Amino acid sequence: MEEKKIIIKYQELSYDELEKSDKELIEKAIKAAKDAYVPYSDFHVGVAVKLNNGTILKGNNQENAAYPSGLCAERVVLFYANANYPDNAVDTMAIVTTDNKGEIIGKNASPCGACRQVIAETEVRYKTPVRILMASKKSVLIFNSIADLLPFSFNQESLG
Ligand code: THU
Repeated sequence: MEEKKIIIKYQELSYDELEKSDKELIEKAIKAAKDAYVPYSDFHVGVAVKLNNGTILKGNNQENAAYPSGLCAERVVLFYANANYPDNAVDTMAIVTTDNKGEIIGKNASPCGACRQVIAETEVRYKTPVRILMASKKSVLIFNSIADLLPFSFNQESLG
């Protein structure tokens, strides 16, 4: 038996340390969170993605009285991006959670397992890593690829 370890590298930056383009993407995600349709959870998630042609798209979570019919913010914007810009890779994705006053919350936003799976598909589809920014009130965690958040993922390559 051989015990193996996975090391995940990520950065934690204060808002002052962020690159201007990343800060702008987070600001767009905060705006998106305000328009989340969340009558059931009151949990506002906003996501902004930057494509490799510079286009920025926003999305937010959309809930439904039939709960499983709703969709997370990450998948709302990724499916929109893939549907409308099928030739453009997703370069960076900023995720925030806000309270109902539009203030970013204390915990860093983290994509759920299903959203990680969809981000992984996007990386494989465009053969390009997606940078993921998880914002909180005090800092931003930056991951260079979904591989760091979803190791051993099941993807097109798994299908052979
Ligand atoms: N949600 C997201 O939008 N993204 C995630 O990664 C986790 C959860 C949404 C789904 C639901 O509208 C609310 O947050 C509470 O789970």
